[in-house]
Amino acid sequence: MKTTLFTLIGLLLLTNVLVAQFTQKPLPYSYNALEPYIDAQTMEIHYSKHHAGYINNLNKALQETGQENSNNLIAILNNISNYNTAIRNNAGGHYNHELFWNLLTPEKTKPSDNLLKVIEKEFGSFDEFKNHFNKEAASRFGSGWAWLIVTEGNKLAITSTPNQDNPLMDISTVKGIPILGIDVWEHAYYLKYQNRRPEYLQAIWNIINWEEVEKNYKNALTK
Ligand SMILES: [Fe+2]
Repeated sequence: MKTTLFTLIGLLLLTNVLVAQFTQKPLPYSYNALEPYIDAQTMEIHYSKHHAGYINNLNKALQETGQENSNNLIAILNNISNYNTAIRNNAGGHYNHELFWNLLTPEKTKPSDNLLKVIEKEFGSFDEFKNHFNKEAASRFGSGWAWLIVTEGNKLAITSTPNQDNPLMDISTVKGIPILGIDVWEHAYYLKYQNRRPEYLQAIWNIINWEEVEKNYKNALTK
């Protein structure tokens, strides 16, 4: 009886390991760490419900379509036109949020001289870059993301995508590697800012992790 029980538990664990391809990494700071710019309740719901939901639904959608062995998220995004809408929405949702958490920090950081020079060359000044970015983010109709990307010619560009799409997807009109992404879904800001998306977009620059942007930039250049 005991042996049967252990075998059963073992099988259940094995099934779980085989099916659950994607998992959620711990948030790199506490839920209240980004206050007053992003409130603790928003962070908790965003991380533990929305992001976790995208991961669960991605795993489920892959399993339902017999693609549970697809475990390379970037490869899925690069070939997203070959997958169904559930996988498109949830693979994007997982990638975008994992990137986003690391792009925020309670520490005060600023762009390195090197990155600042590149930004100034591309956009005129750091303020012009932020204005351009915020304009793109504010005017994205409905839910979506605003991005700073590295394009194929190693140039910086600002763009935005609807829903949980991103510039890594083969269906994206503007393609590139995201080095900074801001979530402009209402679930990212509504509890504190209600309909005032531009206010959220002003506040978020106080908590951008520029060391992470720099790391993403360097990685993108080597691709
Ligand atoms: Fe989100």
